[in-house]
Amino acid sequence: MKISVIGCGYLGAVHAACMAEIGHEVVGIDVDELKIELLAEGRPPFYEPGLPELLTTASASGRLSFSTDVSAVASARVHFIAVGTPQLEGSNAADLTYVHAAVESLLPHLKPGDLVVGKSTVPVGTAAGLYARIREAAPGASLAWNPEFLREGFAVKDTITPDRLVYGLAPGDDTAESLLDEVYGAALANGSPKVVTDFATAELVKVSANAFLATKISFINAMAEVAEATGADVTALADAIGHDARIGRRFLNAGLGFGGGCLPKDIRAFMARAEELGVDQALSFLQEVDAINLRRRERMVDLAKEVVGGDVRGKRIAVLGLAFKPDSDDVRDSPALDVALRLTELGADVVATDPQALNTALRRKPDLAVALTASQAAEGADAVLLLTEWREYRELDPAALASVVRVPAIVDGRNCLDPVQWRDAGWHYRALGRP
Ligand code: UDX
Repeated sequence: MKISVIGCGYLGAVHAACMAEIGHEVVGIDVDELKIELLAEGRPPFYEPGLPELLTTASASGRLSFSTDVSAVASARVHFIAVGTPQLEGSNAADLTYVHAAVESLLPHLKPGDLVVGKSTVPVGTAAGLYARIREAAPGASLAWNPEFLREGFAVKDTITPDRLVYGLAPGDDTAESLLDEVYGAALANGSPKVVTDFATAELVKVSANAFLATKISFINAMAEVAEATGADVTALADAIGHDARIGRRFLNAGLGFGGGCLPKDIRAFMARAEELGVDQALSFLQEVDAINLRRRERMVDLAKEVVGGDVRGKRIAVLGLAFKPDSDDVRDSPALDVALRLTELGADVVATDPQALNTALRRKPDLAVALTASQAAEGADAVLLLTEWREYRELDPAALASVVRVPAIVDGRNCLDPVQWRDAGWHYRALGRP
């Protein structure tokens, strides 16, 4: 199948490479010349495990190319829209500028029988509008909505073996369904379940899945607040309730909360859309989910103050982790970066480190003091804050780190260290939601 992918960010670049890997002929399009240049050289402009290897093999196979010229889509039959839908400045709503621009740029190149496939996360109702526009401007072409559920850090695996495929189709559009079956033949043969539905349901599947995940995290973080007030341990509580198969232990890790380019802005855009639809009451709980999540960052700053004796001014604070989660260099709405910046604003002498996200963090905050390793960041520190649970931080040797800090005090913002081991090594250990 000849495929084009419009937008080569975290989603589109992975999608393009994976589609080529499973045998399709793919062209990736983006307006960013540098991004396209790097991708064409097999160098992803962001960190994603497995992607560099995939780009190299796919380019060598001749099945993957990249271009800034949208006319390169002309020979493709299926066109994926994988552009971003960030939060609008000064509003909760999603900014659809890039989605509309992508579709408009495609229109002159669409042939009868072509299928445009939306993967971007959009407010419910967007696909219906785009479908009308495509039918009017490119008769014979159609649209499907096929939301993407990939997690950064596992994006390659999630794309090649998705845990489900959702096709939102126009009524009776069997051609679109068979085209998508052909695109995803390998995943379907592997047993990925398929749900065929209408546009609105497909759009809602994505935002409601993210709303559910965000709620699960904020639920356990709310329990962490109660645990803090009662001397209970939220990690033991999560283990215990997680044994109930109806609840499940996954996504019950209490700590600094969720960030990234999806969950925070998706729940806000969902609330904004619900308000437009007159069903804002149905989603008012998401306001609380957002508030609980943001309170964890404040609590982390308070704990940092506490361990250095009340005032962070002039205190050396080592921050381990800047990415919004491990195995990613993404600092969009990163709780870790947020805490580092809040402490800097309060006058702390923050030195931050991250295995992959130093460059992305410095792009956002050029004067952030950074170090290359955890032990360099911790040198002479009055407190160490673990804010992103990279494996190398989870496996830190407490005795070795104790030998470089000024005061052995650590706040575990992700509940990923063994308190007994750290206390035995002489550390003052604090965590979110643990005694
Ligand atoms: C998410 C969805 O999982 C994915 O399906 C969707 O397509 C895009 O949004 P992603 O943003 O890559 O993916 O990250 P995810 O693994 O969901 O983590 C989101 C945030 O939640 C991270 O900041 C993570 O640290 C936090 N988190 C996750 C917790 O605080 N506790 C948990 O138990 C799990």
